[in-house]
Amino acid sequence: MTAPARTLFVTTALPYANGPFHIGHIMEYIQADIWVRFQRMRGHTVHFVGADDAHGAPIMIAAEKEGLSPHDFVARIAAGRKAYLDGFHLSFDHWHSTDSPENTELSQSIYRSLEAHGLIDVRRVEQFFDPVKGMFLPDRYIKGECPSCGAKDQYGDSCEVCGSVYLPTELKNPYSALSGAQPELRSSDHYFFRLSDPRCQAFLREWTAGTDRHGEPRLQPEVLAKAQEWLGIGTEGGSLADWDISRDAPYFGIEIPDAPGKYFYVWLDAPIGYLASLKAHCAKLGIDFHALLADPSTEQVHFIGKDIIYFHVLFWPATLKFGGHKTPDRVNVHGFITVSGEKMSKSRGTGISPLRYLEIGMNPEWLRYYIAAKLNARVEDVDFNPDDFVARVNSDLIGKYVNIASRAANFVNRHFDGKLATLAADPADPHTARVAELEAAVAAAYEGREFGRAIRLVMGYADEVNQYFDANRPWELAKDPAQREALHEVCSRCLLAFHRMTILLKPILPVTAARVETFFGTPQLRWDDLGVRPGTASPAHAIGRYEHLMTRVDPKSFDELFELPATADAPAAAAPAGAAESAGAPAPVSIEDFARIDLRIARIVAAEAVEGSDKLLRLTLDAGEGRLRNVFSGIKAAYDPARLVGRLAVLVANLAPRKMKFGVSEGMVLSASADDAGSPSGLYLLDADEGAQPGMKVS
Ligand code: 2FM
Ligand code: ZN
Repeated sequence: MTAPARTLFVTTALPYANGPFHIGHIMEYIQADIWVRFQRMRGHTVHFVGADDAHGAPIMIAAEKEGLSPHDFVARIAAGRKAYLDGFHLSFDHWHSTDSPENTELSQSIYRSLEAHGLIDVRRVEQFFDPVKGMFLPDRYIKGECPSCGAKDQYGDSCEVCGSVYLPTELKNPYSALSGAQPELRSSDHYFFRLSDPRCQAFLREWTAGTDRHGEPRLQPEVLAKAQEWLGIGTEGGSLADWDISRDAPYFGIEIPDAPGKYFYVWLDAPIGYLASLKAHCAKLGIDFHALLADPSTEQVHFIGKDIIYFHVLFWPATLKFGGHKTPDRVNVHGFITVSGEKMSKSRGTGISPLRYLEIGMNPEWLRYYIAAKLNARVEDVDFNPDDFVARVNSDLIGKYVNIASRAANFVNRHFDGKLATLAADPADPHTARVAELEAAVAAAYEGREFGRAIRLVMGYADEVNQYFDANRPWELAKDPAQREALHEVCSRCLLAFHRMTILLKPILPVTAARVETFFGTPQLRWDDLGVRPGTASPAHAIGRYEHLMTRVDPKSFDELFELPATADAPAAAAPAGAAESAGAPAPVSIEDFARIDLRIARIVAAEAVEGSDKLLRLTLDAGEGRLRNVFSGIKAAYDPARLVGRLAVLVANLAPRKMKFGVSEGMVLSASADDAGSPSGLYLLDADEGAQPGMKVS
């Protein structure tokens, strides 16, 4: 029945060791961890490893700013990792660093193999050099005026004002962002990995389009399409350029053999860190690393975000192939995390700090469940939405799943001393067959990273079980001694169904599952314990005292979680604050005080009702800034949104952005109202006389 045991080597992208984990890291780790836990429950051997990506100029510079050696700097970051990994129940077998002896040895030996294949070239490259710092400058540390539009203080690769892309040497009046000095052009030898070599091109064409040993495509369709575009497949003459893999001293990295003063560019040694971490893990377990990695039956699976596809589907497989190692079986790519539909931004208060989440006592399994519910196998962004989070956790996870146990356990403990009725699975029973089918579908969903589907299937089953419980009215059966057996059967069936659901959810909810294991006295449940296979009964026969399994989310927790104070449905932008609140007249202010408020004319370019709010309209405003603002205004009762489009309004432009339940409000529009601003009818939007233009100052 069970598939033959597999050996899997699984990784997540290695985070830069320049800061704590953010929610995007945690989302990726949760995704990989669920998949890994599922594989382990199926009886497969998994080596799940991570590491800090320690090298590179940005980390070297950040360390210097703090007066630390890069080594001490990354050690300090590394020391903070455990709280997150343990806190979110991430079951990495080992966490390593790319700044390690294992990585040095592996990177150098891979490089030697590339060299032996004739795939390394040395070429002279001209680059900006900071004479004060005595170092070549990475593109992001060179600033100057945009060669296209003349905007000042633009980065060395592209202009944030006009969007044009250029070389750092094309900037006008360039300066070093590190010292402010004018950089000089200097040349030095750089080492290139010759990806343009026909052997590399041929290999990558085949590898990217290939399948894994189970016949599944190695890459998701949208990832394959990107790779083919980069490889110039289907387009005229496109092909990969050679890759500059060296950086000059001073650099925090691994020395290139026989090339004094030259270091590997961080993106060469970073993925090799996957192997370094596995190697250190093997040493801990006494496993032969080289044998494990070389074994053709070992499957190598990477989980990464969509921003680093290029490195993982082109550079990395080619590095492995010509570096003398097995190439990855699969690269699983996920999208970004957005918060209430917006890109995450700390300054606007939409950043969710994972540590804060734990510190304020939010349950890590809520987040695991919520993320799982939103994940599928495609490269789609995942939106974190507080309302949706509360609904899924409270209504589905607790209202449907946990509820079954708390309702049925009560009767079994009270009337049957905790013993479950003996209900051997009958293969001829259509329910048994239906459940076996469900379990196979859930397994397939986990295997294919369709976690949202797995959850929908389990919750559908939970609905059925709750209906069965209600239809049989155990509370009435309990009053009639003649119905004792029926009561026992109904409640036992529900508890056994709950036990099965727990196995199905265990990859997502490992801690809750452990509690349920104790409750039933069935430790270490694995997939095989599902117990509805023909002829087998459930391993569960009795229950212990029912202890609460999980509490509900209090929606107020989000006020604490978001870094700016959150407002639920308060009009951020109706009558100016003060009009309704202060009992007497506001105290006089000086003209200077008044001048601190930046009032501007804005044009309403779009207006719409906010779903789920009876007060708010979402306004899109043009205040002449070259970008549009999103402002929530509590004028829904007084205005039809369609009538607002095109009108002018007065915007408080320097109001601190405010995180609301529906998104971030970037300012407020002024309106007049009677003193009792609570009465919705009396709201009058301020506008300006004909001729006023967006961006004009109001004073
Ligand atoms: O983009 C990043 O955060 C990199 N530190 C990821 C490296 S993944 C692997 F190659 F190490
Ligand atoms: Zn420009």
